[in-house]
Amino acid sequence: MSKNFQRYTVTAALPYANGGVHIGHLAGVYIPADIYCRYLRLKNEDVLFICGSDEHGVPVTIRAAKEGITVQEVVDKYDKIIGDSFKEFGISFDIYSRTSKPIHHETSREIFKTLYDKGVFVEDTSEQYFDPIAHKFLADRYIVGTCPVCGHTDAYGDQCENCGTSLTPDKLINPRSKLSDATPTKKETKHWYFPLDKYEAWLKEWILEGHKEWKTNVYGQCKSWLDAGLQPRPMTRDLDWGVPLPIPNTDGKVMYVWFDAPIGYISATKDYFAQKNADADAWKPYWKDESTKLVHFIGKDNIVFHCILFPAILKAEGSYILPENVPANEFLNLADAKISTSRNRAVWLDEYLREFEGKQDVLRYVLTANAPETKDNSFTWKDFQDRNNNELVSNLGNFVNRVLTLTQKYFDGVVPPLNDLEKVDIDLVESLRTFPNKIGESIENYRFREALGYIMELSSIGNKYFQENEPWKLAKDFEGNKARIENVLHLALQLTANLAFLIEPFLPFTAQKLQKALGVGKFYWNELGNQDLLISGQKIEQTGLLFEKIEDDIVQKQLNILAEREKMNELDNKKPQPLASEITYDDFAKLDIRVATILKAEKMPKSDKLLKLLLDTGIDERVVLSGIAKHFSPEEVVGKQVCVLCNLAPRKMMGEMSNGMILMAEDKDGSLKFIEPSAAIWNGAKIS
Ligand code: MF3
Ligand code: ZN
Repeated sequence: MSKNFQRYTVTAALPYANGGVHIGHLAGVYIPADIYCRYLRLKNEDVLFICGSDEHGVPVTIRAAKEGITVQEVVDKYDKIIGDSFKEFGISFDIYSRTSKPIHHETSREIFKTLYDKGVFVEDTSEQYFDPIAHKFLADRYIVGTCPVCGHTDAYGDQCENCGTSLTPDKLINPRSKLSDATPTKKETKHWYFPLDKYEAWLKEWILEGHKEWKTNVYGQCKSWLDAGLQPRPMTRDLDWGVPLPIPNTDGKVMYVWFDAPIGYISATKDYFAQKNADADAWKPYWKDESTKLVHFIGKDNIVFHCILFPAILKAEGSYILPENVPANEFLNLADAKISTSRNRAVWLDEYLREFEGKQDVLRYVLTANAPETKDNSFTWKDFQDRNNNELVSNLGNFVNRVLTLTQKYFDGVVPPLNDLEKVDIDLVESLRTFPNKIGESIENYRFREALGYIMELSSIGNKYFQENEPWKLAKDFEGNKARIENVLHLALQLTANLAFLIEPFLPFTAQKLQKALGVGKFYWNELGNQDLLISGQKIEQTGLLFEKIEDDIVQKQLNILAEREKMNELDNKKPQPLASEITYDDFAKLDIRVATILKAEKMPKSDKLLKLLLDTGIDERVVLSGIAKHFSPEEVVGKQVCVLCNLAPRKMMGEMSNGMILMAEDKDGSLKFIEPSAAIWNGAKIS
């Protein structure tokens, strides 16, 4: 095999080290990027697959405040969790680096310095929000207040999470600092701006004219940014967490996270070669050689940074290549609502593995088959179960299983010879030949769902071939039909061997198992589509079932977990009712509330809400009807001391008079509680 020298630098968005990895991350960015890289490696291209943790920016500092630990502890914790999840799901990065590494600080400072020395930045002084008690400038996220649109009292300075409105801190009612609760003031501060406006014409040319082939969602978003006109953007922040500026006397200032994070791709490349003890320039071809193809895999919220800001920065710097493509995906929802890290509304990868140990490929399959490539899409457990049972088990798994077990049964696990071909055999061989190219072309055009669809189609062709030839029927007269049975199994085995490689980008764990069982060597993509991957006489092994049926109770369990969390979220977000309007003491004194004991209790006939209670109020014995029958049984309440509003005008309910009202309080979850004296007290005691 001669080495093909097309060089690729493939990046996957550096996740913020502020939480674990969930199915939305995998489906949107990391699985497509991994499929692409595994495919390129199978083509024997020179590919470097880059990722790492994004450890700067406000999200990590907010997480630290929330968990009550230091920012350093937060990034160390999540860098590990994220890295482990990626490994477990077979995301085949060549390097998973971190933006906290010295190599990253050096690289970003160097690039910043080059721009600074070239006079690219525009310095400007402006007023920024400042916390006068904590003595710190405040990022928008650090200012909270009441949303002017929906009245939510904890809206952020950039957005209200309750109604989704985009905000600025001055729109908040009663703004307060998250650090100290102080009312933010404004203070003058100097920052360095990247003049995106000056790159507008070039960006329009480069993207709108030069990259019409980009995915429509990406091209469309770029076009609307460019049509709206670009403004200078500050590349520095008043924060103590981030990369310090390479400018004298700028203590307390760091780089804007979206300046340094994409440079993380470059520093990770350097990190990779440093760890290999390669020479100091080894990273350069991946970033500076015009023939290298640079591809950024990201989610749609990152489009402007990867298509507009980062390329403009690289262009200004002058010595780097620009991305050839930025295949951003849309968002994956969970059932019919957004995935949310802060609300814990997600399927987390570590959690998935606890229930579905060893089934990484099933999730990879489902997330690819249903990837949000052109529009937002939803993950549901039902779809997960259906695709597993109907596609992986019944189609691919069933085919492979039949081929392997029949080979074992009829030929002791030895690949039988190929004899004269009949028309069905020739058709099979012909159709097999077309698949690797078709699949490859889809992958190269970032249409991974389509590519996976072709693989399943090929597996269906295998099943159909079996169905048409029915080797198990032929075997009733084995000696008479030997040549036919040999042909059918030989070709089915060759098809299986092809599948073992074709599925590798998508289902790497299954591919490995299958390649091992078949005892095939290494094949490259352009060698596939042929019927000679296996040699007659070669011994093959069994794999056991590649996929197992997923039963309803397992799916139900996952649905219950989600429902339970949803309920907890609702409770967490529930706020007490707002304060009622003011009253005077005289208003209050009109209420005659007494302690009373429940002497008797019974259900009201024909009512599922009312209990009929006989009370000793100290003044009299009286009947009160109370709407608590759904919450308490009569037996439970007899003997209780309760508080009763005694001078409420009597009222008739269900044909019976009620002479007062028992005081109850509703808990967060909707359950009712009695208001009881803290110790036994005489009936008739007045509450004041
Ligand atoms: N951390 C960002 C996010 O999770 C992505 C950063 S991508 C990089 O949205 F290019 F900046 F690295
Ligand atoms: Zn709101």
